[in-house]
Amino acid sequence: MLLAEGYLLPAAALHVDGTVSENGTNCASLNMNDAARLLTFCMFGRPDGVDAYTRITAQLRSEPRTWLVTGAAGFIGSNLLEALLRLDQTVIGLDNFATGHQRNIDEVLSNVGSRAAARFRLIEGDITNVDTCNTACDGVQHVLHQAALGSVPRSIKDPITSNKSNVDGFLNMLVAARDAGVARFVYAASSSTYGDHPGLPKVEDRIGRPLSPYAVTKYVNELYADVFASAYAFTSVGLRYFNVFGRRQDPYGPYAAVIPRWVANLLRDRRCVIFGDGETSRDFCYIDNVVQANILSAVGERQSGTHSVYNVAYGARTTLAQLFEMLRDGLVSYRPEIAGMSPDYDEFRPGDVRHSEADVSKARRELGYSPTHSVAQGIAEALPWYVENVDSYERASV
Ligand SMILES: NC(=O)c1ccc[n+]([C@@H]2O[C@H](COP(=O)([O-])OP(=O)(O)OC[C@H]3O[C@@H](n4cnc5c(N)ncnc54)[C@H](O)[C@@H]3O)[C@@H](O)[C@H]2O)c1
Repeated sequence: MLLAEGYLLPAAALHVDGTVSENGTNCASLNMNDAARLLTFCMFGRPDGVDAYTRITAQLRSEPRTWLVTGAAGFIGSNLLEALLRLDQTVIGLDNFATGHQRNIDEVLSNVGSRAAARFRLIEGDITNVDTCNTACDGVQHVLHQAALGSVPRSIKDPITSNKSNVDGFLNMLVAARDAGVARFVYAASSSTYGDHPGLPKVEDRIGRPLSPYAVTKYVNELYADVFASAYAFTSVGLRYFNVFGRRQDPYGPYAAVIPRWVANLLRDRRCVIFGDGETSRDFCYIDNVVQANILSAVGERQSGTHSVYNVAYGARTTLAQLFEMLRDGLVSYRPEIAGMSPDYDEFRPGDVRHSEADVSKARRELGYSPTHSVAQGIAEALPWYVENVDSYERASV
């Protein structure tokens, strides 16, 4: 069934023995949860969300593939690594540890157990070296390219270094993936590409002027991926992440994201600072939603030689003032003394967009994306992890 340009949804069926067939071919053994969700899909015919994800993850389990995750030692990369190893895939990781940590990889390998860990290989290297990219792409079917220097303020302070990883490195990865003949290249794009466009919610084809060097680099990624589709028939998908959060996101360092930074501050009795009046809003997206979008993009049916971009978010707005209250209230059971705490306020920061909220209907329609976690559900899942791990992050940061 053709759903939209570049996207095909194959038929799937569940058999009583718990196997799935796609276009008549047996392709997976399912656990009971997967089987129940797939049964719902078959009975009610909803080609979206968890159902599409269930079908695709079942397909992966039965036909494991080899993946390259760049930025595997980072926050998002290490979560992709964990999900893929749990799905019985073989994974190569590439990271130069600029902002990632060996501890993230160690935690993943300990979580998945030794058998799954044996299907992982790490290349310590830099994507600004094209030979390293070629080596990493060798024999790979799917690339999930996450390696980049994040942070708007970092790019404002040092645009040259951000450009090296985010543009030169990105181009190296595209060339290496094309030359290696990988089936699908999925990359981390960014909501910063919407720049100064005032429209809300953000729709993929309406962007404004970039507000920071970081936003320029992420937009250039999309332009290159577009040209690689038209010039070389190279198939890629850009995922415009909106403020991702969750386990293994670094709470320390000058460019830490707001959620882990505030969680660490609240746990350590330090002040939380809101830049601006507190009404700045973001579409905070839990990591599990991002993992789902990546796997759907990498494996779902797609016309070859195309490039598409999708918003990856929950699809709702939370102000910074609301976020502070959610985190404080979520941590009160661990630290009752923060119950009355309020944030400090400082000047607006240059380069920050005022409001951000995604329209995720394109991803729902074409990928079968169905975010499983709202910001509140994500925070509830992430907080215990931070409570347990904040000490070791703090020790590592000094
Ligand atoms: N976290 C978010 O909210 C968010 C939002 C939009 C886009 N993104 C994008 O998602 C991707 C992952 O972000 P993250 O939050 O996991 O950040 P992160 O800093 O935790 O992970 C990035 C990883 O890439 C590695 N890396 C950086 N430069 C490299 C290079 N030249 N060669 C090899 N490895 C390199 C780092 O060491 C790190 O492990 C990035 O491309 C980022 O721009 C993130």
